[in-house]
Amino acid sequence: MPSLEKMTCVEDFRRLASRRVPRMFYDYVDSGSWTEQTYRANSADLQRLQFRQRVALDISRRDLRTTVLGEDLAMPVILAPTGLTGMQWADGEILAARAAQHCGIPFTLSTMSICSIEDVAARTQRPFWFQLYVMRDRDFIGDLIDRAKAAGCSALMVTLDLQVLGQRHKDIKNGLSTPPRPTLANLLNLAGKPRWCWHMLQTRRHGFGNILGHAKGVSDLHSLSTWTAEQFDPTLSWADLEWIKQRWGGKLIVKGVLDAQDARHAVDAGADALIVSNHGGRQLDGAPSSIAALPAIVDAVGSQIEVLLDGGIRSGQDVLRALALGARAVLIGRAFLYALGAMGQPGVQRCLDLIANELSVSMAFCGRTSVRDVDASILLNPGIFQSQEA
Ligand code: GLV
Repeated sequence: MPSLEKMTCVEDFRRLASRRVPRMFYDYVDSGSWTEQTYRANSADLQRLQFRQRVALDISRRDLRTTVLGEDLAMPVILAPTGLTGMQWADGEILAARAAQHCGIPFTLSTMSICSIEDVAARTQRPFWFQLYVMRDRDFIGDLIDRAKAAGCSALMVTLDLQVLGQRHKDIKNGLSTPPRPTLANLLNLAGKPRWCWHMLQTRRHGFGNILGHAKGVSDLHSLSTWTAEQFDPTLSWADLEWIKQRWGGKLIVKGVLDAQDARHAVDAGADALIVSNHGGRQLDGAPSSIAALPAIVDAVGSQIEVLLDGGIRSGQDVLRALALGARAVLIGRAFLYALGAMGQPGVQRCLDLIANELSVSMAFCGRTSVRDVDASILLNPGIFQSQEA
């Protein structure tokens, strides 16, 4: 039985989660769309960036603190919005939000979470961020925005790259649904996950908490799956951001930008920050890795708006690489989900501690003492993804 202290990297958590989490929910996290080339490139491209080691520069006092949108962060890492988090571990969103709070960083709650906005707000003190999918039912979206406001969320993150769905082979083959469809294969798989089943029996949260009982025509899980399939609105355009911004009235982040021209649109639409993201390689397979897309976007809008990045971050070294190419902070999805699925809240806290320590030590090797001083000069080959934009 592995102990928390023996978990020394994200890969340890991934391996344990693959044994402890039911197959369909583990696969949901651990895969990308179609051939998964973009999913793989996210991590592989980060690894291509080489550090420039420096020595004998007093590196005794190191500081990982930063701010994002005026909010203090203990390190430049944010928990990304991830669907079905409460299926990795019972009440997963509440536990991950508490771990983020413990470590002094923001947690982002997904529209497609199991625990509702109100559930998470009632069980945490630190304001969290809320991620919004734009759906056809604008009354429902308006209500969601109001609920996030009432819950004291400190930023609204609008995801722009999931109006149509990238095909994920495993989800289709597994018949992904909440709760798991009782096929023989699923039942056999669940029989091997007693800890997961036991925890799930202790909670009443098994459906999409933000939606069930709130959206018109959705009262149970069956009507929910039909509703979601019909709801993601492909007519979404930049003009929609205006009413969202108005209704919300607070800090607005747009997520899913890979192109410098779209980054300029985000600035024009009044976003306070944007996230360079290919949705963890889960949407347009064949799109560039997030780190490769970052320099052109930083060049285009970095002086006007805070630029964040997600995709492929599995260590403190990856955080450092993204900062070096101009990200103000990064979001992690899979890294914390593996830890949650493996060990619950203590797992997520341990994972964040490991990332913080690796970031601190790697920064020291590069001769820097503050994340605010990290720039491209800590890399030997910072130009490999040089802006292609004229
Ligand atoms: C939802 O955000 C997903 O990628 O499945």
